Amino acid sequence: MKVAVLGAAGGIGQALALLLKLNLPKGSDLALYDIAPVTPGVAVDISHIPTAVNAKGYAGEDPTPALEGADVVLISAGVARKPGMDRADLFNVNAGIIRNLVGKVAEVAPQACIGVITNPVNTTVAIAAEVLKNAGVYDKRRLFGVTTLDVIRSETFVAEAKGLEPEQVKVKVIGGHSGVTILPLLSQVEGVTFSDEEIASLTQRIQNAGTEVVEAKAGGGSATLSMAQAACRFGTSLVRALQGEQGVVECAYVEGSGEHSRFFAQPVLLGTKGVVEVQNYGALSAFEQKALDDMMETLAADIDKGVAFVNG
Ligand code: NAD
Ligand code: LMR
Repeated sequence: MKVAVLGAAGGIGQALALLLKLNLPKGSDLALYDIAPVTPGVAVDISHIPTAVNAKGYAGEDPTPALEGADVVLISAGVARKPGMDRADLFNVNAGIIRNLVGKVAEVAPQACIGVITNPVNTTVAIAAEVLKNAGVYDKRRLFGVTTLDVIRSETFVAEAKGLEPEQVKVKVIGGHSGVTILPLLSQVEGVTFSDEEIASLTQRIQNAGTEVVEAKAGGGSATLSMAQAACRFGTSLVRALQGEQGVVECAYVEGSGEHSRFFAQPVLLGTKGVVEVQNYGALSAFEQKALDDMMETLAADIDKGVAFVNG
């Protein structure tokens, strides 16, 4: 398997490169690409870690060599939030970056599975889909918005609140990846019950967790290390499934049946060709149903914005 990281010199990219060097299966190739000249050096740096993962770095305007033969492409290229900004404020810069990079993936590695990390994810995934479609290579089984950070945050915060081992807690998060579109299904967490107040405050904390980090970093960027761990979890799950492991499920923002919106985050069974099945997310509490109904307008508008960006 070859995994390419685009944006590999950034805050997420470097930490993700390190984690992939440590966690990809033996014999994997790891290609690091960024416009920043330091990128080949990042690859040299991690190549001194004794694991059987072969890292190579590429800088400059053209990602082609990094993409050649890639099975998985994880994209974190783009600008991050500063305090006072919304994820949507990143659209003006990041929309064009995603359009260009995904255009290159369509040309060089049309069979690759793509995981989009770059914000605003609700919109950048729609941009990626339209670019792939216009290039005649779109396969909805192979395009993912990476929403795993919402999952790991939910698992951490629930464990903290209930005194549980964080590794044992499993939480599904559905919808999208911004504010009210992030919906953790706390009613389904096994072995715990929450009061209405706990549900309301935990849900709000999970929805605002990105802002919590942006404010704590005080102008120094947004979540990078936890995001790298989230992307590593998603990326390695995808690689294991592509290699034939059965029963690999992760929540991700994908094009499903369109029951709610064209793209929607929910549990997805992964396999050798990407998405095998977009799974049912189960019964919702009244609180969750209302939150789902309330998010739909925002999510649909975010998706439309991405489609309009590509198709005018
Ligand atoms: P960063 O500024 O530290 O790194 C971004 C990197 O992208 C830089 O190294 C830059 O040189 C590179 N880059 C810019 N344009 C490029 C191009 N055309 N080709 C290749 N590389 C390019 O930012 P970061 O903290 O790593 O965040 C990256 C993105 O990830 C942001 O949009 C951020 O909002 C998003 N993010 C998403 C999630 C999520 O849950 N999906 C979580 C955290 C951050
Ligand atoms: C996050 O959830 O931490 C990311 O989407 C980054 C951000 O801007 O909040």
